[in-house]
Amino acid sequence: MTVNAEAFKKALQDWASGVTIVTTTSSSNEPLGMTATSFTSVSMEPPQILVCINDSALTSAAIAENHYFAVNILGADQQAISNLFAGGASVENRFESVAWSKGINAVPVLDESIASLECKVVQQIRAGTHWVIIGEVKQAICRSGKPLLYFRTRYRQLNNESDQ
Ligand SMILES: Cc1cc2nc3c(=O)[nH]c(=O)nc-3n(C[C@H](O)[C@H](O)[C@H](O)COP(=O)(O)O)c2cc1C
Repeated sequence: MTVNAEAFKKALQDWASGVTIVTTTSSSNEPLGMTATSFTSVSMEPPQILVCINDSALTSAAIAENHYFAVNILGADQQAISNLFAGGASVENRFESVAWSKGINAVPVLDESIASLECKVVQQIRAGTHWVIIGEVKQAICRSGKPLLYFRTRYRQLNNESDQ
């Protein structure tokens, strides 16, 4: 039995998530990044996370070459950055409008995201159209702010003022 494609999409839209920018560096040392909501924690010991990245995204091939990437968790006021890194800006122009610095292995870290996790690839598994990229977290930087959320194809915000 094959799941109905519409039902599959609709069910997934009922999953609420945060929004991240996954970054790495190209073989010519250019910063690369894309918006991704498919981020989850995997293991505490060793500390591991995963992201699922489409094979067609430039970032996925670059992570495979570089072996390092970062996951930058966006704040509530960073919807425009999410749109830029989801195709709103060309790959070359995406970093022009964000503050960033070089982290481990020169991987870009977004200075104004609410948290950044710098990772080394430990496994990259092909699954359909995507790569499941599991990374061991080498550095976690926590800043401050409320997260940007994504639910039923729209950006959302926490509405409880005490949720900081
Ligand atoms: C809210 C949101 C979440 C997304 N999550 C993912 C994701 O988890 N994995 C993925 O491969 N693409 C995801 N995308 C799509 C990519 O960000 C988009 O295709 C991007 O342009 C790919 O990068 P590229 O232009 O460098 O190929 C998401 C887009 C949006 C707007």
